[in-house]
Amino acid sequence: MSVEQPVLQVSHLGISFGGLKAVSDFNIEIGKSELYGLIGPNGAGKTTVFNLLTGVYKPTEGAFFLNGEKMNGKKTHQVVQEGIARTFQNIRLFKKMTALENVKVAMNMKMKYSLVAAAFRLPSYWAQEAEIDAKARELLEVVDLGDKADVIAQNLPYGQQRRLEIARALATGMKLLLLDEPAAGMNPTETAELLDIINVIRKKFNISVLLIEHDMSLVMKICEKIQVIDYGETIAFGTPEEIAINPRVIEAYLGKEDE
Ligand SMILES: Nc1ncnc2c1ncn2[C@@H]1O[C@H](COP(=O)(O)OP(=O)(O)OP(=O)(O)O)[C@@H](O)[C@H]1O
Ligand SMILES: [Mg+2]
Repeated sequence: MSVEQPVLQVSHLGISFGGLKAVSDFNIEIGKSELYGLIGPNGAGKTTVFNLLTGVYKPTEGAFFLNGEKMNGKKTHQVVQEGIARTFQNIRLFKKMTALENVKVAMNMKMKYSLVAAAFRLPSYWAQEAEIDAKARELLEVVDLGDKADVIAQNLPYGQQRRLEIARALATGMKLLLLDEPAAGMNPTETAELLDIINVIRKKFNISVLLIEHDMSLVMKICEKIQVIDYGETIAFGTPEEIAINPRVIEAYLGKEDE
């Protein structure tokens, strides 16, 4: 057992939609800078777990904690403020804004100047603006988009849009990053770049990551622990090596031999 309290602690979390249990008795503990994988067949409940952890859905059972503080019951913007950020299965950016503007918008909630200062463009506003600009450019550098600051988001190639999403998540000052199939639709080069960025984020920013990913080789390569769900239930948890030979996991993915 680690001495430090986990960044994310999830305890018996669950939700039903009209009687159907989409996720039930979900438990996980993720420590600082750790990278865990969440896998399972289509419709298993993976994205629903993310929707629970980000306050999009209200759990019908259980609780979850960020650095020991209870999070369920909080609204999405509150959860983000506390430090849980996500990227989406389908990219969500402000398509007509530049890369830099996308990051700055995400930083907005962290601005300290008052509305009055902003309205009258007082010196404190400009000082903060300059600081935000510099910080946003720094975050673009982290995801290797330093030279793309002024490009309109929708004109960036797919892999770069994915990375811009990560820069936006970083801009919220998060402690835990939830990545929903970030490598979907990426070519091998883009996927390799993504891997590097995930590692930079963990090491440079001490951020913990929970990763949903269909690309099994990717999950096996980078995750320290993997949790497998099927029909909303956890069927396995362990190291990549343990998961790869787990009969229940093999069955969930490939079906029973007699089927
Ligand atoms: N708002 C909702 N109302 C009703 N049912 C829902 C809702 N959200 C999710 N579900 C159901 O919950 C189950 C889990 O869906 P979820 O999107 O979490 O799966 P997933 O593991 O992310 O799948 P995929 O790999 O295809 O992305 C599905 O049966 C889905 O239809
Ligand atoms: Mg999903």
